[in-house]
Amino acid sequence: MQKNTFRHQPDSAATPEDNPASPGRRHGMKMLLAGGLGIASIGASKSASAASSCTHNYNQAVNYWGSHQAGVITPDTKEAIFVAFNVTTREKAQLQRLLQLISQRIAYLTRPQTLAVGKNDQLPPVESGLLGHNLSPDSLTITVAVGASLFDQRFGLAKHKPKKLIPMPRFPNDRLEKDWCGGDLSIQFCANSRESVIYALRDLISHCNQFMVPVWKMDGFLPARDIDHHSTAINLFGFKDGTGNAPITDSKLMDELVWVTANNHEPAWCLGGSYQAIRLIRFNLEFWDRTPLEDQENDFGRYKTSGAPIGMQHEMDDP
Ligand code: HEM
Repeated sequence: MQKNTFRHQPDSAATPEDNPASPGRRHGMKMLLAGGLGIASIGASKSASAASSCTHNYNQAVNYWGSHQAGVITPDTKEAIFVAFNVTTREKAQLQRLLQLISQRIAYLTRPQTLAVGKNDQLPPVESGLLGHNLSPDSLTITVAVGASLFDQRFGLAKHKPKKLIPMPRFPNDRLEKDWCGGDLSIQFCANSRESVIYALRDLISHCNQFMVPVWKMDGFLPARDIDHHSTAINLFGFKDGTGNAPITDSKLMDELVWVTANNHEPAWCLGGSYQAIRLIRFNLEFWDRTPLEDQENDFGRYKTSGAPIGMQHEMDDP
């Protein structure tokens, strides 16, 4: 499946004034967090010592707002869920409503919230309860992409289709299965704990299930120790994976490699967006673990422990 991530657009519930990037809003958020910490330190010493042994910053929030969507070149997180959805409505106004709803949930879920408690025990609880009473953003990003199928005859969007957006083609040795391909929308959830991404997915489905149904879902993770130590992630083959990734701090390079710019001659609404490709690749680990080290290293062209290119010394040496 190949998709185009689109720029996150504001909606009625998330106006520029409501934008966490604006100085006023940011200041307000800082005040809120500082207030919370003050109360904790006055409280019972037991909870204070429990808090001090916790190195995970659940309060870390990533701004969802801007000329690019969060979750594309945002620093890596430990957990991820990728879900493809098909849109169930055939009316353009309802598609618009769905995209507004998704935007509202992203604005809500990526900021600290005190969670509502339902008072009516004859109704389902207003939220899952998975996070207790407080929603801490936990570096959550939610990234929305549109699939080629969204531009079919249903909504009359064909003339807006990004030029390079096509269904995932079949490459040599691929065995594409229909049930694991395609989707009108792809939504990517990233955060630093499993419960944060699961909570966000359940929230989004419960608010949007009138207009969309899940088609397939893939879970992902990056090694927690590498994220904590800011070292290159090691993949399931035991090799450093990501050494050659372009640095996200080089905005000129990001414009060239990641973002759609005027140079790409795409429809105007795509500017600042990107293309997303999701591929499910099977790791034959039992066989791999019986493979001699030399063969493993030759497969990647790098040493297993240091990550250096063969014949060189350091991970970052130029192969
Ligand atoms: C099972 C799937 C894959 C595994 C385990 C894997 C693993 C790796 C590893 C260990 C490296 C060397 C370290 C590094 O530069 O990050 C690497 C480099 C690279 N991979 Fe992959 N890879 C996979 C799939 C892919 C796919 C599907 C693509 C492209 C569509 C890709 C493109 C590249 C490129 C371009 C490099 C070279 C980066 C450079 O040296 O500049 N890889 N990969």
